[in-house]
Amino acid sequence: MTFSDKNDELYILGIESSCDETAAAVVSGNKRVLSNVIYSQISEHKQFNGVVPEIAARSHLEKIDLVVQKALNDAGIEISGLSAVAGTCGPGLIGGVIVGATFAKGTSLAANIPFIAVNHIEAHALTVRLTEDNIEFPYLLLLASGGHCQICIVHSHDNFEVIGQTLDDSVGESFDKVAKMLNLGYPGGPILEKWAENGDEKRFDFPRPLCNKNSMDFSFSGLKTSVRILTEKIFAAQDNNHDQEKADICASFQRTVAEILVYKMNLAFEYCRKTGIAPNVAVIAGGVAANKYIRSRLQSLCEKQKTRFAVPPIALCTDNGAMIAWAGIEKFQKGQFATLDFKPRPRWPLGSAI
Ligand code: KG4
Ligand code: ZN
Repeated sequence: MTFSDKNDELYILGIESSCDETAAAVVSGNKRVLSNVIYSQISEHKQFNGVVPEIAARSHLEKIDLVVQKALNDAGIEISGLSAVAGTCGPGLIGGVIVGATFAKGTSLAANIPFIAVNHIEAHALTVRLTEDNIEFPYLLLLASGGHCQICIVHSHDNFEVIGQTLDDSVGESFDKVAKMLNLGYPGGPILEKWAENGDEKRFDFPRPLCNKNSMDFSFSGLKTSVRILTEKIFAAQDNNHDQEKADICASFQRTVAEILVYKMNLAFEYCRKTGIAPNVAVIAGGVAANKYIRSRLQSLCEKQKTRFAVPPIALCTDNGAMIAWAGIEKFQKGQFATLDFKPRPRWPLGSAI
């Protein structure tokens, strides 16, 4: 049997429920995504302009059965054909995490197959190894999601050297908050990106906190406050069509965020050179990696740094079951299974087993 035949026999069901997407997917050991089903709760949270944890948990409970069943049907596989089941066990909104983790444990018990406890952030960090060829360790990673903003060197599937992180908001959170200030609707990140397309990115100069320092840490709260002050001033004006101003704020804000990320990633390249680490690729992952403007600014940086740039396809940047299944495969291959008393957790730092 060849290595690829052996890997192809591996079929892992991944279950995700840590925020506002109920998702499940079946992925094979040789990187085939056999199914990828996502039920988005956007319509349930829209009226509140953000995710309501209690509503999210109830909705996961209502939909998880159907979503998992559809993932198995689409893949043409029964639970008896699975090698293992992987479930997000944190970090995230604990009510939802409990729903998905418990469902994954129940499936593993019913099918008598191993259960794999997956860290949601690690799954984002590893997705690019599913979607792109030859992503070897170590690689440089910018992880930018709704809950996290970190720069790390990924030494192995479970060894993450965090070299920079946010001191306050995450990037995704700052997109969501600015979108809320401008009454753009929910979910904020992608809507703000759309508005920015019609805006003048040079119109407003916003601060870039911590960008005069040799630190890879981030801070977004000063930027957010500055947008708030400007927004209040514009909204206070008598004139009642503010659409151009809103688009210009979006474009200027997005440019500022991209410049902050580029500045910090530049420092990360320097750090790698100083410490003798030679990352074979630089990666951006997490929901914010779906932003085309940010992707292209980071791609230009990588061209200057003569380093390959890799990012998952847009559909796999935001939360999905395939990334959980893939992280499950990486753990399966190392024999890292969990027992059924593994406790779901709201916080779970990268690379820590417990
Ligand atoms: O990874 P993700 O789906 O969930 C978490 O693990 O947090 O990331 C969601 C975050 C949200 O804050 C959302 O606004 C942001 O990613 N996001 C975007 C875009 N798409 C999603 N931010 C900027 N531009 C986008 N196109
Ligand atoms: Zn996520």
